[in-house]
Amino acid sequence: MGSLFIAFLMPGIAYASTTSVLETASQYKVAVANSHLNQWDFFNLTLHGRLQKGMAVSTPCFPVFDGKNKTFNSTACDDVQIGYTNPLFRAPIFGAYMLPQWEGCQSSGEQCLLDSSNTSNPAAWTDFRCSQGSVAPYYIDVRDASDVNKAFAFSLATGVRLSIKNSGHDYKGRSSGRDTLSLWMHNLQSIKHSTVFVPKGCKPSASYNAVTIGAGTYFQQIYDFAEAHNITVIGGYHQTIAASGGWVQGGGHSILSPVYGLGVDRVVEFKIVTPDGRHRIANECQNRDLFWALRGGGGSTWGVVMETTHKVEPQLKLQVASISFNQTATNAFPWLNIVTQTALKWSKEGWGGHIRANNLINVNPRLTLAEAKASLKNISDYALSQNGTVTIETLPSWKTFFDKYVTGAESGVGNIITLGTRLIPAANFETEEGLDAVYEMLKGFLPVASPNIILGTPFLYKHTGGSTSVTPAWRNSVWHLAMHEAWNFNTSTTQKVVAYKNITNIVQSMRDISPHSGSYVNEGDLYEPNHTRAFWGDNYPRLLSIKKKYDPCGLLDCWQCVGWKGANDPLFSCYLKE
Ligand SMILES: Cc1cc2nc3c(=O)[nH]c(=O)nc-3n(C[C@H](O)[C@H](O)[C@H](O)COP(=O)(O)OP(=O)(O)OC[C@H]3O[C@@H](n4cnc5c(N)ncnc54)[C@H](O)[C@@H]3O)c2cc1C
Ligand SMILES: *[C@@H]1O[C@H](CO)[C@@H](O)[C@H](O)[C@H]1NC(C)=O
Ligand SMILES: *[C@@H]1O[C@H](CO)[C@@H](O)[C@H](O)[C@H]1NC(C)=O
Ligand SMILES: *[C@@H]1O[C@H](CO)[C@@H](O)[C@H](O)[C@H]1NC(C)=O
Ligand SMILES: *[C@@H]1O[C@H](CO)[C@@H](O)[C@H](O)[C@H]1NC(C)=O
Ligand SMILES: *[C@@H]1O[C@H](CO)[C@@H](O)[C@H](O)[C@H]1NC(C)=O
Ligand SMILES: *[C@@H]1O[C@H](CO)[C@@H](O)[C@H](O)[C@H]1NC(C)=O
Ligand SMILES: *[C@@H]1O[C@H](CO)[C@@H](O)[C@H](O)[C@H]1NC(C)=O
Ligand SMILES: *[C@@H]1O[C@H](CO)[C@@H](O)[C@H](O)[C@H]1NC(C)=O
Ligand SMILES: *[C@@H]1O[C@H](CO)[C@@H](O)[C@H](O)[C@H]1NC(C)=O
Ligand SMILES: *[C@@H]1O[C@H](CO)[C@@H](O)[C@H](O)[C@H]1NC(C)=O
Ligand SMILES: *[C@@H]1O[C@H](CO)[C@@H](O)[C@H](O)[C@H]1NC(C)=O
Repeated sequence: MGSLFIAFLMPGIAYASTTSVLETASQYKVAVANSHLNQWDFFNLTLHGRLQKGMAVSTPCFPVFDGKNKTFNSTACDDVQIGYTNPLFRAPIFGAYMLPQWEGCQSSGEQCLLDSSNTSNPAAWTDFRCSQGSVAPYYIDVRDASDVNKAFAFSLATGVRLSIKNSGHDYKGRSSGRDTLSLWMHNLQSIKHSTVFVPKGCKPSASYNAVTIGAGTYFQQIYDFAEAHNITVIGGYHQTIAASGGWVQGGGHSILSPVYGLGVDRVVEFKIVTPDGRHRIANECQNRDLFWALRGGGGSTWGVVMETTHKVEPQLKLQVASISFNQTATNAFPWLNIVTQTALKWSKEGWGGHIRANNLINVNPRLTLAEAKASLKNISDYALSQNGTVTIETLPSWKTFFDKYVTGAESGVGNIITLGTRLIPAANFETEEGLDAVYEMLKGFLPVASPNIILGTPFLYKHTGGSTSVTPAWRNSVWHLAMHEAWNFNTSTTQKVVAYKNITNIVQSMRDISPHSGSYVNEGDLYEPNHTRAFWGDNYPRLLSIKKKYDPCGLLDCWQCVGWKGANDPLFSCYLKE
């Protein structure tokens, strides 16, 4: 095997930060040729036996995999059936995605999915071919930067494409990929708090009260930690989203964002391995172009993020409102009218939350309880007139709010869902014509599904202009407006295409009333027609030049990401052509 092989095995020699990935890749080619092993077995050796095989989480319930009979394991199948829609069950399993259509191959119909409405329905495993699908056949359970460096070199040497999986929350399938080698970030679990965090290379006077979070750590863990440390971390509305992966790199909204900014506004440092093989620290004092790109340019584009650091707030007392009523054929209309008429006022007052056709759960860190009640009087009165329920109360912290209201109301997982969204600017709410257009549009959605009106834009947050690469549309919008379509395990391919088209059409009605706005890259229409415009606006050309600088060989790519090679690239062969 010779000395090159030894060099490849020894991180201290081959993976010093000065060794370029090109050099490592050519060493690899020589070493694998001399080893007489196949590329995977050789690669596994260099990883000290840590290369693993990936398979969709529900495979134990299927009697046949990739055309081969196998023994049915009823214990393992029972676990999947019980845990199927539980995010805490899915999160620690490599082959489980929150939106399970990204485990299968939608274009070929191969899938190992259960009936999410009844996970013991045997039709799921008798009527469908279970196969590898979009789950990576090989993955590395990443533990340090040298694992990532080896993966880049392997990809360069062999042409095997890469994917990065963290919590598996991605709505657009960007964390799986047919025939890829996957980097699984979940087990980088760590969190620490410093009241005087100084970004590397910055003056000590520029310190922050901040938490540093390992790539795989997710929000339930972070909120528990924050509560124990009497601080508030601004994060997402779901237990298992990871704070350092796609969420923050794509923007990262919270219902506290109206006052405290997006994830990209709060992150002060990234530790990342870029595709040239270097372990870098990006912040306001060094690698500033990369720091800017990471603050909105999206996941799976700039490298593999190992850790991020986020500013924290003190413990926050919150005014919390939960209002709901039973919907009839028409009683959602007056409700949506009040919601539209009052949108701008609520944004100016700092409200965040989620408003549906017959309920809302909102929070406000700025008002007193009396002010909160007065602010919501019209909408509360309307709900009460419909025999609904109104609770407006003060809670002592984000975690008390999260545990009481969010874990029971967060978006479901294990169900097949696709989303389309648009950022709706304040200007739409400033004139009678604008208000009418918004209201008519919402009314038009009701026969299809309930709109999800997310008060999560950084409306009051004073950000430093030009400091982030998200679409500037975030800054002047009052709503992040979402609609979804859902389907089940046995929906036909034709019907799936119709569902995706429906979302594109629904979002078109949002684009029509906000032609100069944009949308949130992580929750956009999968088939966004002018995606670079919608997700990044005028920031796109600079993002593309930074992408070429740090990933000159194009080792990372994902659907509609910066530098995307396009739908016809083999990496995207499982996406349906709309
Ligand atoms: C139920 C649900 C609720 C949600 N709620 C919110 C919400 O409240 N607010 C909000 O803003 N968004 C929300 N989202 C959207 C969420 O932000 C995105 O799904 C996001 O992509 C998740 O990032 P992840 O890393 O956790 O997931 P993954 O699916 O694992 O990864 C997402 C993308 O990031 C890349 N990536 C992951 N880790 C890394 C890394 N360490 N380095 C480089 N690239 C990486 C992946 O390759 C992929 O492209 C929600 C999604 C779901 C399914
Ligand atoms: C990698 O090697 C280890 C140790 O020999 C083995 O247990 C594991 O199955 C191998 N992985 C793959 C994907 O073959
Ligand atoms: C798989 O099992 C089926 C039914 O149990 C059987 O008819 C078939 O011959 C088996 N195939 C192989 C390759 O063993
Ligand atoms: C069946 O699955 C269970 C639970 O995942 C596992 O502990 C067990 O080893 C499996 N049995 C076989 C025979 O693979
Ligand atoms: C789920 O499917 C199983 C098997 O077909 C059936 O016995 C059971 O009644 C179903 N459960 C529900 C709640 O429909
Ligand atoms: C927690 O933080 C709040 C706000 O900063 C402060 O008022 C309170 O005294 C702190 N509580 C404890 C137990 O430290
Ligand atoms: C809706 O109606 C059901 C059944 O009549 C009732 O139990 C429930 O409390 C009502 N919900 C609200 C929010 O009014
Ligand atoms: C309630 O509605 C009335 C009539 O539209 C309006 O004048 C008033 O400002 C609203 N009050 C609040 C608190 O929004
Ligand atoms: C509310 O409840 C009262 C008393 O039960 C009933 O008379 C009234 O019709 C209900 N109103 C609505 C809108 O359901
Ligand atoms: C899908 O499966 C469900 C439950 O088994 C069944 O009721 C439904 O008719 C099936 N739909 C299609 C399109 O086959
Ligand atoms: C698509 O939209 C049409 C019209 O709004 C609706 O009737 C249909 O059920 C939708 N189809 C799917 C698959 O969602
Ligand atoms: C995308 O939007 C930009 C800016 O509005 C425009 O110049 C460009 O022509 C659009 N591209 C397509 C394909 O519509």
